Amino acid sequence: MSKPSNLLSWIDERIPLTNTWNKHVGQYYAPKNFNFWYYFGSLALLVLVLQIVTGIFLTMNYKADGDLAFKSVEYIMRDVNWGWLIRYMHSTGASMFFVVVYLHMMRAIMYGSYKKPRELLWIFGMLIYLVLMAEAFMGYLLPWGQMSFWGAQVIISLFGAIPFVGDAITLWLRGDYVVADSTLNRFFALHVIAMPLVLIGLVFVHIIALHEVGSNNPDGIDIKEKKDANGKPLDGIPFHPYYTVKDLVGVTVFFIVFFAIVFFAPEMGGYFLEHANYIPADPLKTPEHIAPVWYFTPFYAILRAVPSQFGGVIAMFAAIAVLFFLPWIDRGPVRSVRYRSNAYKLILTLFVIAFIVLGYYGMQPVTPAGTVISRLCALMYFGFFVALWFISGDEKTKPLPERVNY
Ligand code: HEM
Repeated sequence: MSKPSNLLSWIDERIPLTNTWNKHVGQYYAPKNFNFWYYFGSLALLVLVLQIVTGIFLTMNYKADGDLAFKSVEYIMRDVNWGWLIRYMHSTGASMFFVVVYLHMMRAIMYGSYKKPRELLWIFGMLIYLVLMAEAFMGYLLPWGQMSFWGAQVIISLFGAIPFVGDAITLWLRGDYVVADSTLNRFFALHVIAMPLVLIGLVFVHIIALHEVGSNNPDGIDIKEKKDANGKPLDGIPFHPYYTVKDLVGVTVFFIVFFAIVFFAPEMGGYFLEHANYIPADPLKTPEHIAPVWYFTPFYAILRAVPSQFGGVIAMFAAIAVLFFLPWIDRGPVRSVRYRSNAYKLILTLFVIAFIVLGYYGMQPVTPAGTVISRLCALMYFGFFVALWFISGDEKTKPLPERVNY
């Protein structure tokens, strides 16, 4: 038998294994000033793998059938060996996916990572975000609890507000006049096969796009401009071992938090697993208060803030769509918030506050005060993009450093 080194050259003569490793890991030069905010890309990858692996095991015992789905989840929780662990890892993973992705997006916004030449990287990120929302929405129907059923019923009915074709679209989406077994089956197919495939493909392209242009960094300056005699960026360090080790620290801390939730608070007070979902779906009994899971609530609050239903649907989709255009709305010459104007810092802070407040009110039952605050925050949300266009057109920025701060 050949020795391992011979095996490697045997493989390298047939597929570019060592080359690929060097290009994307061993000799991928990343800026040396990555900070806390740069943990979340690798963590998102980790959660993606966790969701796929736990999802495969769940599928082995789950039954996508209106009469059996709820019972099969209870069966997984009580009778399948380690079923409770797999299920709680998957449900906690869903929420943690959004925690990680929101922080990852926040980083991209703060450091202007969406700006030239990373526009496509950002767009692939946004597509990932869209598919992730669809994936989570469909997954949530599968346990066939009250909130699964009524959440899907409410969200799908929104399409009914579209003039002329609305009713036909809702009927087509559900495959029945209400959310039913046919809806469950198609959501299952999309949740376990179609969406994950698209997600994996998009994440692959996301990383290819990243490696084509190189990582941004907290100073938002281009490390490729200052190179040593060998053509290596002076402020760059090889991804491996430096960032593989750094990311392992992130993974360790993440797992501590993740398993603390899985073992001690898997429902997270009803935020990760809603209480009403412990009651089997009942098409004849509407729950008193229907709210989506926390990661959708900022957009749900925008939907409810608009008086007309059709207007609400448009505003909700616009709130997501506008993010795609961020690279062109922001005309500022400087990437990182560190060197941007105070006006920019102010609108960014207001934007984050508005998003969080919207998230809070999206979870609450409708009250007159809540509606007023949601409207105000919805205006602040969209106002950010308008203000950004104007402010960034002629922005007084601070001088950029020659080299990264480290
Ligand atoms: C499954 C979800 C995702 C995965 C696995 C993922 C993965 C990654 C990884 C591994 C990196 C490099 C490490 C890092 O910069 O943290 C990265 C960078 C980046 N991602 Fe994502 N990402 C995801 C979702 C998103 C979303 C939703 C957006 C934005 C809408 C986004 C925008 C970006 C940007 C702009 C960068 C470059 C950041 C920089 O260089 O400063 N990503 N992503």
